[in-house]
Amino acid sequence: MLALLGGDSAVTAEDHDYYTQWPIYTEEEVEVVSSLIRTNSLSSASGSYGPIQELEDLVCVRWGVKYAIAHSSGTSALRTALFGVGVVPGDEVITQSSVHPFNCLPIIGCGAVPVFADIDPNTLTLDPQDIERKITDRTKAIMVVHWRGMPADLDSIMDIARHYSIKVVEDNAVSQGTLHRGRMLGSIGDSSAISFQDGKLTSAGEGGVFMTNDVEVYQRAATLGHYERLKDLPDPKWSSVSGFSFGEKYRMATVTAAIAVVQMKKWDQRLEIRKENEIKLGETISEIKGFSVPAVPDYVESRYSRGFVQFHPQQLAGITRERLIEALNAEGAKVQSPARKDSRIPHTQGLQRMLHKHPVFAGNDHGTEEILWEVLGLSAPRFDYKTVALPVTEDPELPYDMIQLPSFSRPAGELINEYATAFDKIALNANSLTRDSTGI
Ligand SMILES: Cc1ncc(COP(=O)(O)O)c(C=O)c1O
Repeated sequence: MLALLGGDSAVTAEDHDYYTQWPIYTEEEVEVVSSLIRTNSLSSASGSYGPIQELEDLVCVRWGVKYAIAHSSGTSALRTALFGVGVVPGDEVITQSSVHPFNCLPIIGCGAVPVFADIDPNTLTLDPQDIERKITDRTKAIMVVHWRGMPADLDSIMDIARHYSIKVVEDNAVSQGTLHRGRMLGSIGDSSAISFQDGKLTSAGEGGVFMTNDVEVYQRAATLGHYERLKDLPDPKWSSVSGFSFGEKYRMATVTAAIAVVQMKKWDQRLEIRKENEIKLGETISEIKGFSVPAVPDYVESRYSRGFVQFHPQQLAGITRERLIEALNAEGAKVQSPARKDSRIPHTQGLQRMLHKHPVFAGNDHGTEEILWEVLGLSAPRFDYKTVALPVTEDPELPYDMIQLPSFSRPAGELINEYATAFDKIALNANSLTRDSTGI
């Protein structure tokens, strides 16, 4: 019998949290941090570039890019990525609305105006056709957000950008390690950034890295927040900025870099484990009536899947997503809804919102929208966000028929079998769930 209706739970593993733990820190991180403290090397200002240099070298090798600069956060690395491609006050930058605000903050930090384009319902990333509709003569860049291991359609977006002579910045904060036609996300656009905030695929508390292949973008970018690293830049125009900077100090703490280096060295192995677990569970669940794993576009070679499972209500006695999640949770499976309807309103726990509906853009009775135009100043073209309509972004049910699994970060054979049993029980007893919910 289903646990929700009084039966025993399918998932009983006591060490559930151990197998789904993320991030994973060990004595190795403790040791490198202690050593920096013991040697009084907490800032690169005291001459210790060691871990920062090591991290940047690792990033360049892993991503196959020429230049990387460690930053205090992913957001500051994104700001540098925008500044590097030449975004200045008054420019417009096209980006997506249905994400955390973090992609948008650095746009405003540059004094530029975020212009929101709609998303593709299958990938939940920017829709190239809508990007093209949003281009004006003020558009300087497109900031794509690769969403949880699902790349934006970079083939089309790069073509559009080249056609209109605009730049592409990749927000790769949450998709480290995913390949797009064999190339690492973050190495394809004109510049990009990753984040090390806890929970990301490389976690180090806080931090981020800016990267690019273009020496001009690199030199310009370096002058935003790294006054002490400019003297060796190849072009005297930029190296002469040395000792000065066009933005606040963005350098990374050595402690962060040292932790990130340890994490990154274990990265391949850990991602492989997550992938193996997910593939195994996905394949098992796909054999169960009413469930499948979502199709992945042919341009994606995903090293890190999003942990989505698709359900087909017509094969499961018409079950709703809420009821399915309730039943799986009762079985002990920690699945959740990726739909955004509960978390899209400002001031709620989940930060995943429709940014264009936030009072900063859409306004309210208190005149909150005026702050944006005060901050952006006179050079910014005033934009009426109330008129912005993004039908796919605004669909609260998206992604329509999915539930989300936890990340299985350690070899989790038995736990995975128990999850599969939980799904199996639902498939076999779906009738009783829907009967029960309607009181029939
Ligand atoms: C999509 C996205 N972009 C950018 C960021 C910003 O990174 P950070 O928190 O390191 O500033 C985040 C952080 O969660 C994010 O999820």
